[in-house]
Amino acid sequence: MNILVTGGLGFIGSHTCVELIANQHQVVIVDNLVNSKPEVLDRIEKLTGVRPRFYPVDVTDSCALEAVFATHPELDGVIHFAGLKAVGESVEKPIAYYYNNLVSTMVLVDACVTHRVNRIIFSSSATVYGDQPSPYREDMALMKTTNPYGETKAVSERILSDVAGANPTLAVTLLRYFNPVGAHPSGLLGEDPSGIPNNLMPYVSKVARGVLPILKIFGDDYPTPDGTGVRDYIHVVDLAKGHVKAVESDIQGVKVYNLGTGKGISVMEIVNAYAAVNGVEIPYEIAPRRPGDLASYYADAGKARDELGWVASLSLEDMVRDAYRFETSNSHL
Ligand code: NAD
Ligand code: UFG
Repeated sequence: MNILVTGGLGFIGSHTCVELIANQHQVVIVDNLVNSKPEVLDRIEKLTGVRPRFYPVDVTDSCALEAVFATHPELDGVIHFAGLKAVGESVEKPIAYYYNNLVSTMVLVDACVTHRVNRIIFSSSATVYGDQPSPYREDMALMKTTNPYGETKAVSERILSDVAGANPTLAVTLLRYFNPVGAHPSGLLGEDPSGIPNNLMPYVSKVARGVLPILKIFGDDYPTPDGTGVRDYIHVVDLAKGHVKAVESDIQGVKVYNLGTGKGISVMEIVNAYAAVNGVEIPYEIAPRRPGDLASYYADAGKARDELGWVASLSLEDMVRDAYRFETSNSHL
């Protein structure tokens, strides 16, 4: 199939391009490079032997996006990764988040309808479930989101569902990711946040390499087995393969799938596994809870297994080993 990948040079998008190409799909990438580097395209080529067509275009720019669609009448579908994703930044800059994430979704789905590109796969997040007991199931009612970033995901899901309702030939797949971590096993692709990382795994990687002195564990008094926060961490390569399954499945209408492992892992388990697998020290201290954090959540991953034939197969050891390999690789982006 011919797939347009927005945000295709980012963390999840780049891994997905590699898996799509490995499965004989043709990829066209649009990315405005706000949170990625052009070298990622070279890495995709190095890994696959194929250099996808790349357009340094902002998805909110309807004229520029129209030109991409006009140049590629062969497109069968779109995977929409492009978006801003830092929860804390979204609280400080709500307009930037609402504008970028919602306008990009509207401009893109409008172009799809105009050009009869009838498949859209959207990067949503477990954050749309809000605060309710795990495991999260796709048929649960969604609770109020707690920050502008999360709201852009909930509203984008609604926009895409409404447009599909008005255009019965449009198939929309909403993929709710849990906590994507790890990196490509080659060490060529991974997550390289600028500045001090907000998320646990990139922060642990910086501590492991000695770039940051100590990890703060945000709370050890949660009602979890060891008192630290529990999440459903999923290897980014497994996540990327979930997109290939979603692209290849014969979906009609609007479908929602969790992409997670179904297993909760605590912060302390991550730290211990990272240290043991990589033979490194992770100095840490217990700090107060981070405002807005939930104690524990994880997916019910059964629907993606039953309907897409997809299950996450990589282990916690794979996640921490690949994260450290990317962090210490000479080819670091
Ligand atoms: P990322 O920042 O690495 O990738 C996003 C890419 O989109 C970047 O390359 C960026 O340059 C590009 N981009 C942003 N706005 C754009 C615009 N207006 N036009 C064109 N390109 C634009 O993030 P990621 O971790 O790969 O996440 C991909 C998607 O998955 C995002 O929508 C994110 O919200 C969602 N998601 C991520 C996580 C996570 O923990 N990483 C969890 C749930 C959902
Ligand atoms: N944590 C620490 N120390 C740190 C960073 C994180 O103890 O320095 C803890 C957190 O308190 C939490 C766990 O590690 O218990 C995971 O935190 P992350 O920041 O890595 O991830 P979150 O679960 O908070 O959020 C992530 C993405 C969101 C997305 C959400 C969806 O950042 O964009 O998953 O599940 F919405």
